[in-house]
Amino acid sequence: MKHFPPHFLWGTATSSHQVEGGNPPNQWTWWEQQPGRIWQGQKAGLACDWWRHAERDFDLMAELHQNAHRMSLEWSRIEPEEGHFSEEAIERYREMIQGLRDRGIEPVITLHHFTEPLWFWQRGSWLHPDALNAFSRYVEHIATTLGEPITYWCTINEPMIYAYLGYAEGRFPPGEQNLRRTFLVLKQLIRAHARAYHILHRHFPHARVGLAKSLFYFEPARSTSLLDRLVTQGVWYLFNTLTLDAVTSGRMLPPLGTGLTPDLTLYNSVDFIGINYYSRRMVEFDLTRPQEFFIHEYMNPRGETTDHTAAGEPYSEIYPEGLYALLRWAWKRYRKPLIITENGLPDEDDDQRPSFIVRHLEQVHRAIQEGVDVRGYFYWTLVDNFEWADGWNLRFGLIALDPDTQERTPRPSAHLYAQICRANALPDEHSQENRPT
Ligand code: FCB
Repeated sequence: MKHFPPHFLWGTATSSHQVEGGNPPNQWTWWEQQPGRIWQGQKAGLACDWWRHAERDFDLMAELHQNAHRMSLEWSRIEPEEGHFSEEAIERYREMIQGLRDRGIEPVITLHHFTEPLWFWQRGSWLHPDALNAFSRYVEHIATTLGEPITYWCTINEPMIYAYLGYAEGRFPPGEQNLRRTFLVLKQLIRAHARAYHILHRHFPHARVGLAKSLFYFEPARSTSLLDRLVTQGVWYLFNTLTLDAVTSGRMLPPLGTGLTPDLTLYNSVDFIGINYYSRRMVEFDLTRPQEFFIHEYMNPRGETTDHTAAGEPYSEIYPEGLYALLRWAWKRYRKPLIITENGLPDEDDDQRPSFIVRHLEQVHRAIQEGVDVRGYFYWTLVDNFEWADGWNLRFGLIALDPDTQERTPRPSAHLYAQICRANALPDEHSQENRPT
C-alpha cells in the first residue's frame, strides 16, 4: 500500500460553464453561436444540468468516497448586469456549497474559470480600464454573501491558457492572434488574482487562497542540442514560471514588466499553488519562428497518446513522470503547499484512464515521499462535460454522460478511483510499477 498523508483532499474538478447548463449570459454562450467556433457547432446546452440538479452528482461523489470537490462560480449569473447582483444565483450557490458540506465534501471554489459576463466581455474584458475594479466588486460580493463556509479558493483558472488560447492562438474567444495583447491580458489576470487574494484574506484571515496554474513538462526534442535546450528553458519560463514568479516574488518579469521593483500586492499572494497537469511537450529551436521566440513546441509523436480532438490529433501525450518533475520543481522553487487542481484525459472507452490515474498517483506519492508538500488531487472530471472548442467530442469523465437523456454510467475508473479515495492510498493490486508494457 502506498499511503497518502492524513487529510489529503481527494476529488474531481468541474467548472460552471461546462456543467451548469442553461445558457448564462457569458462570452462562451455568445461564442457558441458563432459559426465554426465549436466542434460540429455544438453548444453547452443543458451541460450536466447542474444548475437544477447538481445534487445528483454530489451524491455520486459521496458514493465514490471523494472528500473534496473543486467547482467554479459563474460570474455572469451572479452579476448578469453591471452592478446588479442576483440574489437568486447566490442562494443557489449557497445551497450547492452546503450540499457538498452535508455530504462531507470540502468545497474548493474557483472565482473565474474562463467565463465572464457578457457586459464585461463586450466592453473589452480584461483590457478595459475598469476591469480590475469590476472583478474586485464581484469578489467582494462573493466574500460577503457566500464566503463563510469556504476555506479553499482558486482565484483564476489557468491565466496563461486563457490569454494564450484567446489572444495568441485564437481557439478561444476573442479569437485573436496578437502576442502583445496576450501578455497584457496575462498581466491583468495576475493583478486580478492578487486583488482577490487580499479581498478574501481581509474577510477570512484563515482562508487558503491560491490559483490553478496549468503546467506542462517541456523537454528538449534533442537533448544534445544546446539550442533546443535553450528554447526549452525559454518556453518553460514563459509558460510555467512567469505567472508563479509574479505571485510569489511580486516581480512582473519580462515580457510582463522589468521586474526591477517588486509589487507588494503581488508579493506572496498565494497560500498554495494549484497545478493543472495534463502532458509533456517537446521543444525545438526553429529559425523560421522569430515571432514565437524561435520556439517550436509539439506533442511527442512517439509517445503514448489519448483520444483525438476535433482537429484529428491526440489530445495529449500521457506522461506521468512529468507530474513528478513539476511537483519537485514547484516545491523547490516556491516552497508553497501544492494541490493538483486538475489532471485527466479524454478516454471515451476508459481503456487508458485506470492506468493513467494510478500511474500519475504513483508519481505524486513518489514526490510526497521525497518531501514535497502535496495536499490534494482532483481528477478532471466527474461526469463528461462541455469541453470548450471541442464541444462534446472529448470525454474526460469518470462517469459517462448522454447529454440528451442526462443518463450517467460510471466507467470502471470511477470505481478504481473510489477505492483509492476510500483507502487514502494506492492499493498494491493496482500498482503499475515494474509492470511489463
Ligand atoms: C483545462 C481546463 C478545464 C478543462 C480541461 C480539460 O485546461 O481548465 O476547464 O477544459 O483543461
